[in-house]
Amino acid sequence: MNIVLIGYMASGKSKIGKELGKILSYDFKDLDNVIENGENKTVREIFEDSGELYFRKKEKEYLDALLKQSSNTIIALGGGTPCYYNTMDTLIEDKSLKTVYLNVTIPVLVNRLNNETSKRPLIAHIKTDALLTEFIGKHLFERVPFYNKAEFKIDANGDVDGIVENILLRLF
Ligand code: S3P
Repeated sequence: MNIVLIGYMASGKSKIGKELGKILSYDFKDLDNVIENGENKTVREIFEDSGELYFRKKEKEYLDALLKQSSNTIIALGGGTPCYYNTMDTLIEDKSLKTVYLNVTIPVLVNRLNNETSKRPLIAHIKTDALLTEFIGKHLFERVPFYNKAEFKIDANGDVDGIVENILLRLF
């Protein structure tokens, strides 16, 4: 069984995934890291050198390969992965995995992201909290319909331990 974590940038997919992995003795894979290792470039460099659509294509290829070779693995997707190439539909049809959406409010996302925009090409140009709030609001409006297809929806605003406990109670 694999567990696929879905959610916006800074929704805690990696932190929570690592913690869950430790508790369940599952492997943990972060799709962004898998792509970066495979391409020998950072996500930001891939966006800069080849553009977002190229990144989305690679993201899909690496996810498909990862799913084929994984078992008992927690996989953290990128924030945009579920929104391209019918990915959510493919994931929810796959009986060998569970999809978990980490739902975080906009103010909490802004708070977590305002010092970290430079690593993230989609928001690297945004300089103030007000503009970040506006951007995330519009972006989430487009993305939430995809995220909401996940089998489990978890409130991920709080501390990691509480969220992990909640996921374990819901899934097992
Ligand atoms: C993206 C999220 C990032 C990364 C890329 C694009 C997005 O991953 O895949 O910068 O479209 O939301 P994280 O969600 O891990 O930040």
